[in-house]
Amino acid sequence: MDLVAEQGFFTVRWHDGAVELLDQRLLPGTVRILRLSTAADVAAAIRDMAVRGAPAIGVTAALGLALGARELGDDPERFDGGFAGLCDLFAATRPTAKNLFWAIDRMRALVAGMRGVAAARIREALLDEAQAILEEDVRACRTMGAYGAQLVADGATVLTHCNAGALATAGYGSALGVIRGARDAGKAVRVLADETRPFLQGARLTAWELQRAAIPVTVIADGMAASLMRAGEIGCVVVGADRIAANGDVANKIGTYSIAVLARVHAVPFYVAAPSSTFDLDLGDGSRIPIEERSAAEMTHFGGMRIVPEGVPVRHPAFDVTPAVFVSAIVTELGVLRAPYRTSIARALGKGL
Ligand code: MRU
Repeated sequence: MDLVAEQGFFTVRWHDGAVELLDQRLLPGTVRILRLSTAADVAAAIRDMAVRGAPAIGVTAALGLALGARELGDDPERFDGGFAGLCDLFAATRPTAKNLFWAIDRMRALVAGMRGVAAARIREALLDEAQAILEEDVRACRTMGAYGAQLVADGATVLTHCNAGALATAGYGSALGVIRGARDAGKAVRVLADETRPFLQGARLTAWELQRAAIPVTVIADGMAASLMRAGEIGCVVVGADRIAANGDVANKIGTYSIAVLARVHAVPFYVAAPSSTFDLDLGDGSRIPIEERSAAEMTHFGGMRIVPEGVPVRHPAFDVTPAVFVSAIVTELGVLRAPYRTSIARALGKGL
């Protein structure tokens, strides 16, 4: 799997005993690779959004745990205690992304299943597992792309929000994977990218990676989608997800819910693309999905300049929850799921009802 040859960049990888990632805070102006040699640095990179997007966060945490395991000694008791501490460190970085907790649980289960095995052997197994999580994520995105391509009409203009692309996954992308899949299936497709205040993932990241993929993209301010929908300029909406509850309620970047409501009012299909690692079947609905509140500074400042008067408070919930009733279909690597979601999700994830 040579993602650099295919996409021209990688999101995150293990290289020469360290975790390397493309620093997304600097895009589109500067392409810089961060080389991280400690678990603490990897956790900080997730918290500070050098790497972001739910699947990419999960993959990075898995690699960070494999890296951190090298910092622990060989004494079995100490290793177990130290590894639990590392899991807690990563779990405290971004609360909404289910893929983060899914990846941590998978790494934790591996260690639990290797009680009595030498620490050196466990370290090797952890790295293999993290690499497997990375490769599975790319494969899942490609499969989602092929399924989702069927939903996109030839010649369609697709609205997307935030960045759910190769930069938000280990490669190819979830929502942008659907768009890549449509293009790879020979369809002409154009993208409208919401700029996505306040972190501008749409303007900075979606536009950057689609331009590199030679997929036509136009950036719009978040408030422009309504009138463009009314003018009939948007064929469908495709977004990613940070967490999907058992009933199909979808947590995604703040502003997604308003697009879903607009799409319903204008009879535009609203699709969500996410791998199975994004589903949280312990939550019956979206009301208990933890919503990350990020720092006020990301709202009050722009490029180092204050844009809100000193002393005026701001709100900064980083995600919202779109009720399942607004979702036309959920594209996963297991197929395209339709309402009633409680049944289709349980069936696809093999949990029965
Ligand atoms: O705060 P971010 O940039 O991590 O938020 C990312 C999103 O909301 C994405 O749409 C979501 O994680 C899906 S990424 C495939």
